[in-house]
Amino acid sequence: RIAGPSSLVIFGVTGDLARTKLMPAVYDLANRGLLPPAFSLVGFARRDWEHQDFGKQVRDSVREHARTPFSEATWRQLSAGFRFVSGDFSDDDAFDRLSQTVRELDEQQGTGGNHAFYLSIPPSSFDVVCKQLARSGLAEPEREDQWRRVVIEKPFGHDLDSARELNNVVERIFPADSIFRIDHYLGKETVQNIMALRFANQLFEPIWNAHYVDHVQITMAEDIGIGSRAGYYDGIGAARDVIQNHLLQLLALVAMEEPVSFDAADLRAEKEKILSAVRLPPDLDTYTARGQYSAGWAGGTYVPGYLDEDGIPSDSTTETYAAIRLDIDTRRWAGVPFYLRTGKRLGRRVTEVAVVFKRAPHLPFESTSTEVLGQNALVIRVQPDEGVTMRFGSKVPGTAMEVRDVTMDFGYGYSFTEESPEAYERLVLDVLLGDPPLFPRHEEVELSWKILDPIEEHWAAKGSPEPYPSGSWGPASADDMLARDGRSWRIP
Ligand code: BG6
Repeated sequence: RIAGPSSLVIFGVTGDLARTKLMPAVYDLANRGLLPPAFSLVGFARRDWEHQDFGKQVRDSVREHARTPFSEATWRQLSAGFRFVSGDFSDDDAFDRLSQTVRELDEQQGTGGNHAFYLSIPPSSFDVVCKQLARSGLAEPEREDQWRRVVIEKPFGHDLDSARELNNVVERIFPADSIFRIDHYLGKETVQNIMALRFANQLFEPIWNAHYVDHVQITMAEDIGIGSRAGYYDGIGAARDVIQNHLLQLLALVAMEEPVSFDAADLRAEKEKILSAVRLPPDLDTYTARGQYSAGWAGGTYVPGYLDEDGIPSDSTTETYAAIRLDIDTRRWAGVPFYLRTGKRLGRRVTEVAVVFKRAPHLPFESTSTEVLGQNALVIRVQPDEGVTMRFGSKVPGTAMEVRDVTMDFGYGYSFTEESPEAYERLVLDVLLGDPPLFPRHEEVELSWKILDPIEEHWAAKGSPEPYPSGSWGPASADDMLARDGRSWRIP
């Protein structure tokens, strides 16, 4: 799969995402031979830069963040297609210059009138940029064999209404099939592997249901705080930041039925069916938890609490930890709770999906208590130690018939010699190829907000979240939430 002639225009090219992810992804694609010589990268930002300043910025970001080694030959070829356009989003002249630049590249680089516009900018600017692209004639291809695509980054709104409004803004200018919404979790190898694990094997699917599964835990824990992202994060919080998108996408992949095919329409239809069958617990006080990190020890350093971070108001009620129980009203999942949790400044960085099975109906071993023998579990380790672990009971060597938990492991590192591409690498390539399965469509985004909105409203009425020390596993109320169901969170 190699991209065809095309140009990628990045709005917000001086931002963090472009520097740490997008430009390195472009370079890595080029280095792996997945971009054609007829490719160009165009940066658009307010900064008063010349082309060479832009080139230096890309080079620095590649040196620091690319996965593949630096190659002068790749760099020489790639950088021949670099251009920078300086301007404001409301500046007609700037967009006319952009239009002219992109057209010149079509001639000089042979990019063939195929353009992807990556909006790595706040959603409040989507409207003006889409309108400018339309006004300057960039939104529509001139010939049938050319394409135009727009890529948008989350947050896709902060609730259902704003998400609908955003969808309208973009869909007024771009046809639905040319809009690529990024959820970078779908670009992760281990997340795509959920589908392989479930649908390429005979082993798991027969027990993947309410007869055998006791509950599912989806954890996305981070050890970092909010860093320099106060402006984005405060007022948004953990649930809007990652549950609405990454965690609900994981839930959908774990719980959906087998799609007819892996074409975008079939895959999205199955995910949407599951998201529309999600039911909130009747008592949101009991079955959700919300926390905010306080000062504490993380990774050997004493770190400040959320309220003392730069740019955070001292009375902020934004949550940095969120846990929710969700149920799925389908025959497959009736009575199987899905527990989702995420937080910043937790014990360590780990994302995993644990499918926990019911206990064996009977244990014929006298010396084995249920404390020693846990429940069978299949743990999909999304990151950082990518792989899958299966936990089951095994006889302890010796003269007694004693059984204890053991684990069986698959790790990417020792099973494959192939390297996993970075999520953005895969997604940028799919945009250039026009391959949409890994991009949620607007219905999925709206369904996710429908799940989250009542929870957010409930929390908004409650005031401050519960403090938890940095470096811990979150607030006590999250443990109580599972304890009430006779369960406990896994310590990954
Ligand atoms: C982003 C969130 O979507 O995902 C961040 O906005 C979070 O708050 C990040 O840190 C985590 O991504 P990853 O790939 O490191 O798990």
